[in-house]
Formats: sequence, structure tokens, C-alpha cells
Amino acid sequence: MTRISILDTIQNIDKEVEVAGWVHTRRDHGKLIFIDLRDRSGLLQVVFTPKDEELHKKAEKLRPEWVIKIKGKMTERPEKMVNPEIETGKVELKPIELEVLSESKTPPFEIDSDGKEIGEENRMKYRYLDLRRERMRKNLQLRHKTSQFIRNWLTEKGFIEVETPIISKSTPEGARDYVVPSRVHEGKFYALPQAPQQYKQLLMVAGIEKYFQMARCFRDEDTRGDRQPEFTQMDMEMSFVEREDVMQVNEELLIEIVKNLLPDKKIQEIPFPRISYKEAMEKYNSDRPDLRKDKEDPNLLAFCWVIDFPFFSAEGGPDSGGEKKWTFTHNPFSMPNKAHTNWLLKKEKIGEILTSQYDIVLNGLEIGGGSIRSHKPEILRKVFEIIGLDADTASKNFGHMLEAFEYGAPPHGGIAWGFDRLISIFTNEPNIREVIAFTKTGDGRDLMMDAPSDLTSEQLKELHLQVSKKK
Ligand code: AMO
Repeated sequence: MTRISILDTIQNIDKEVEVAGWVHTRRDHGKLIFIDLRDRSGLLQVVFTPKDEELHKKAEKLRPEWVIKIKGKMTERPEKMVNPEIETGKVELKPIELEVLSESKTPPFEIDSDGKEIGEENRMKYRYLDLRRERMRKNLQLRHKTSQFIRNWLTEKGFIEVETPIISKSTPEGARDYVVPSRVHEGKFYALPQAPQQYKQLLMVAGIEKYFQMARCFRDEDTRGDRQPEFTQMDMEMSFVEREDVMQVNEELLIEIVKNLLPDKKIQEIPFPRISYKEAMEKYNSDRPDLRKDKEDPNLLAFCWVIDFPFFSAEGGPDSGGEKKWTFTHNPFSMPNKAHTNWLLKKEKIGEILTSQYDIVLNGLEIGGGSIRSHKPEILRKVFEIIGLDADTASKNFGHMLEAFEYGAPPHGGIAWGFDRLISIFTNEPNIREVIAFTKTGDGRDLMMDAPSDLTSEQLKELHLQVSKKK
């Protein structure tokens, strides 16, 4: 006999089945012992009667989280024993054979609760137990379904998923890089990608035309509810497109996801409203306004686009006693708004230049952003000049981009979604840690693996590293 899933037992009334899973709960009612058996599909009640003495004795020993295999007969429950709370509430299993596959220590916390009452340190240290709870399993399932849906939908539209390197070179996404020392090249370092920005643009130069990737990104910044040091982007890039095309594809995809996977959710307004950065700041004092008309409703999704961001913002200046410095607000690779290209080329009215950047906002959270890129090297060079990168540094850091654009670069643009953030809103979770299987603490530790950790002196030597001082 082969094992069937607990959910499938419903279709096997009056038949013998074999199921396996974890002891969710055990209740002794006088002579009767009730076990709720759990596998990833759900819960099933198993009733041990004293009739089979040996089996009953074995059942007495069972404890929560033991792994067992049971052969038995599926029966319908008497009317008054029906439990409408669980999918298998109308049936139960009368055991014939019981095998203990694995015993368990008493878990450090409850698994049959939603876990919100448990301290986070504990949950993270024993994440493999924490993930057993139904809420976490459902979150991971929705995450999987959503990425699967995205992959299929984009594939239908002619996109191909291309993997880009994880050990690579520092990119100016605005955060600090995680770096990896090179063993072979003494004193040199790789950086983990903050985003696949440059690679996806180079894929456009390579003629891929429609790229996407469920891409892992790494940023060494302080962790918050909506930030993790490593997170996932749904990253895409398209050639021969304008801003409207990219926004259209993304809006359509988001609507389809909600329609197909989230029947309880309602999108407040279609097409998604568009707000300029200026209007958002004036009206809502935020560049990611929460437009929900009813903020109490957990099933309301208020998407909006924010557009027309300033390309540059000034740092320092006479007021702060220093020299005024320009920095890019989003992405140095963006194209300015068409009407402002001349200002950029002449380095005029720098503060008034708008970028083709678009952000997608959902219920007050920035869930994605992108832009049309400058595929002409002269525009990119001007941006570097404005932000004060001398030609030498620019060519050292971005020479490969500038050079690539000399070989017939198509006009292109794209976007990246913060996939974890999107799923956290879909699952009504206040924190992206609830939708990532293995996460880091606020100060970037993995409590389960105990990372970061020391290296042996041999490893350090091999990597040409010396740790100067330890606290
Ligand atoms: P950006 O830096 O805006 O753009 O990132 C895109 C989206 O990623 C999400 N995000 C994060 N999610 C979790 N933890 C983090 N630390 C974190 N940082 C960012 C946000 C954000 O909107 N290459 C460009 C995209 C492009 O222009 O195509 C980029 O990375 O939801």
C-alpha cells in the first residue's frame, strides 16, 4: 500500500488507506484516544479504541510532533461528531497498524497556534518547527503559486527567465554591498548583487528583448519590517518599449494574479491611478501613498503608480556649509523625461529634470520600481558627470556599460518588484519575515545556522585576510 495525503482520505470512505505525518495533538477521552494527524495537506482525526489492546498501548505513548505511519479504515463520523472547522471534518480513521517513524523532543513552542504569541528569536532559532504551523505553510504555498503564475504568464508573453551571477561586481543601487574575498586574486573582492540591473540591461544589448528573473538581491542595510538583507525581486526588462508599455504589462500581470490566486481580494481601482511625485508629496506627504478608502478592510488592494520623480536630488550646499552635490534619486541608468533630455545634456536646471522612473505602490508600500534606460552612452556619461564621478572612475566602474552601448543598444526599460513585500500584503502579514522561509534578524543574524560566524585561521590565510581586532 502506498501513502496517500490526508486531504485525499476524504475520497476513500470505507476503504483502507495508509497515511503518514506528525502527531498534531493527542487527546485521551477515557478509553478513547484521539490523535490529530497532520501532513502538509491538513489534519485527520484518528480514533484508537481499547478493542485492539496492543495498538491502544502504542497510541498511549504518542506525543506531539512524533512522526508516525498509520494503516486503517476511513469511516464517516457520526453526525454529532462532525467538525466543520477542518476539511476532513466529516471523516475519521480507524487504525489497524501504527508505526512510529521518529520520536520528537517536546517542541520549544506551540505548533498548533498561529505563532504570533511566540518571541521571534525563538521562532527563528527553531524555524524548521515554526514553518510546520499552518499559517507559515499557507504563506509559502501562496508565495510559490504566485511565482509559478508569474513564470507561466510571462513565458506566454514571450519572456525568458535568465539567471545572472551572484558573485559579481559592486553596483550603485544605493545601499552597501556584501562582499566576497577572492582566493585566487589576492586583495580583490566580488560583491553580491543589490539587483541584476546592469546584467539585465546587458541582456538587452545581447538581443534577448524580453527578460525576467525571480532574482535574489543582497543589500547590507539595516533590516526593518519591509527589508531583509537578502530578498527576492521579480525583475524584468524589455527592448523597444516606452514607459507606457512596461507599466501596461505589469498592471495586467498584477490584476491577473489577484483574479486567479486571491478570490477574496478586491482591487480598489482599475486602471491603477497615476500620481506625480509632486502631487503625492503635496497631497499625501509621501511618495508611496496609501490610497485605500477603507483601511480596516484586509482584502482591499489599492495599487497606484507614482511617476515624474526628480532625477537628481541635492546633498549639502551652502546651507550646510559644504559644497552642493547632486545624487540620483533612483537609478543612474534611467532616461530623463523626453522634454528634459536637453537640460541634462547641457547640465541645466538639474534639480528640475524629471526621470522616466515609475514606482508601483500598494496599500502604502513601495512594491516595485523601474524606468526607461538611457541606451545612449552620452546621456549616461552626463549623469556620471552631474553626480561628480570623474571620467576615470566612471569608466572604471561602468566602462563595460558605456562600451556595450557603443555596439547597437536597443531602447529598453524595465522594472523590479519587491516580491516579498507583495506576498506579505497578499497574506495580510505585517512583516516580510512571515513570507520568507529562512530569514535574518534585525541585526542580520541567522539564529538557526548561527551566521555570521568565524572563519578558521586557514580559511582567512587562504583568502589573504586578517581580522584586525575582535570585540
Ligand atoms: P529598487 O532598488 O527600487 O530597484 O528595488 C525594487 C524593489 O525591491 C524591493 N526592495 C526590498 N525588499 C525587501 N528587502 C529589501 N532590502 C529591499 N530593497 C528593495 C522594493 C523595491 O521597490 N534595479 C532596480 C529596478 C529597476 O529599475 O528595474 C531596483 O533594484 O519593493
